[in-house]
Formats: sequence, C-alpha cells, structure tokens
Amino acid sequence: MNEHDCTACAVKNETNENKVFAVAIDGPASAGKSTVAKELASLFGLIHVDTGAMFRAIGLKALRLGIDPTDETAIEPMLQDTVVTIEHVDSAQHIFLDGEDVNGLIRTEEVSQAASNVSTLPSVREKLLELQRELAKKQSLVMDGRDICTVVLPDARFKFYITASAEVRAQRRYNEYEQKGKLDGMTYEDVLREIEERDYRDMNREYAPLRPAEDAVMIDTSELSIKQVLTKVLLSMIDV
Ligand code: DC
Repeated sequence: MNEHDCTACAVKNETNENKVFAVAIDGPASAGKSTVAKELASLFGLIHVDTGAMFRAIGLKALRLGIDPTDETAIEPMLQDTVVTIEHVDSAQHIFLDGEDVNGLIRTEEVSQAASNVSTLPSVREKLLELQRELAKKQSLVMDGRDICTVVLPDARFKFYITASAEVRAQRRYNEYEQKGKLDGMTYEDVLREIEERDYRDMNREYAPLRPAEDAVMIDTSELSIKQVLTKVLLSMIDV
C-alpha cells in the first residue's frame, strides 16, 4: 500500500493542506449511524453533525404550535421565522430552535414522527439543505442523516449506508427506551410498528427519499458489535 492509500494519511494530508472534506453517512432510524459517526469524528478530531436533530427541532416547533406536520401551507410560513442552529459543546452537538437549546426535548416518539412528517416537505428540506451545506463548507466533518450521500454532499470524500433489519432496530430502540424509563407503556410491537412506518415514509417520500447512494459502502449492523462495524468502516476507508 502506498502511503496515500491509507485513510489516516489521506485525512492527515487533507487536514494539512487545509482542505475541507466530509464523511457522509445515511441509513434508517436506529441502524447505528450516529454511534459510528461519533466514533469516527472523535478518532479523526472532526465535528459530528446529526442532521436528524434539525428535522426534529422543526417537528418540535410544529407540535408546540399545534401545526399539522404534514401541512406544507401551514409549515412554510412557520419556517420564515424559524432559526435552527447547532453548536458543539465538548464535541457534543447541541441544537438550538429560535435560540433555545432543545437537545433534551427532541428524542421522544412524538417528535420522531413529527420530524419524519415535516421531512417530507420541500420547504423544510430546502431550508435545512442550505444550513447543512454551509456547515460542510466551513469545516471538515462527519455528517449523518437520510440524504447526505445522495443530495446534501454527493461529492463527500467517504460515503456509507448503515442499515440493520427493522426487528433488530426496534429491539435496540425498545432497550434504549426501557433503560431511560421512556417506554410509557409501549410494547416491542409498538416500537417495531413505528420504526416500519417511519422507514416507509422516509424511503417513499417524493423529495430526497432515503436510499443508498450508488457509491456508498453498505454495512448491515444487524449481527455486528459497534467495534466490528467500526472496523469495517475503517477498512473500507483504506480502499477509497
Ligand atoms: O435520524 P433521526 O431519526 O433523528 O431523523 C429524524 C427524522 O428526520 C427521520 O425520520 C427523517 C428525517 N431526516 C431526513 O429526512 N433527512 C435527514 N438528512 C435526516 C433526518
């Protein structure tokens, strides 16, 4: 292997030359994207941008205002005075909605569904696309979401599609809610149904649907530990 085939060298060279580059990760809910993204960001000293949080912030605002998150005619005017920004505090992303840190409020099932609904609307996607591209212009980063490889950063240096079976993802989410005491009477079947509904909406919407980019490396995490997933990611980066 010549030294420029090595991921660490590639990243180091690009950093030394002050070149901005991106690692783009797409995939369905609870497939492990954010975990991989965080690990990679920390390994390479980059920031991690979780774009799902941006859609969640807009979904939260619609819920607070009692606006139907599928109604473009009501959401579009709402967006005109909506400001979504992100900041990194000790390398953790904080999402701000109209100046308020809403990090602790966006991880509920209700907000997940509202985020998935608002994300089908072109006005919402347009607004966030601008913010996402601006962030990637300013600094090297790891960005995860549903359309990062296909729409937001099609020229990203590294691209991944991280997935897992709906059953495995539902079990992971169920365990997470249970540990955090956030089950609220939900059964495993309820969680599975919500994951399947969200997958369907994310994959079948008209604008920027979730699908693997042709040149993304596909990783199915159903049977893998985090360490095994990371090993696959890093090995594949050597070949890029
Ligand atoms: O990754 P997440 O579960 O936090 O995302 C919440 C919703 O936001 C998801 O159901 C679809 C939408 N989303 C999107 O449409 N495009 C992105 N790049 C990220 C998220």
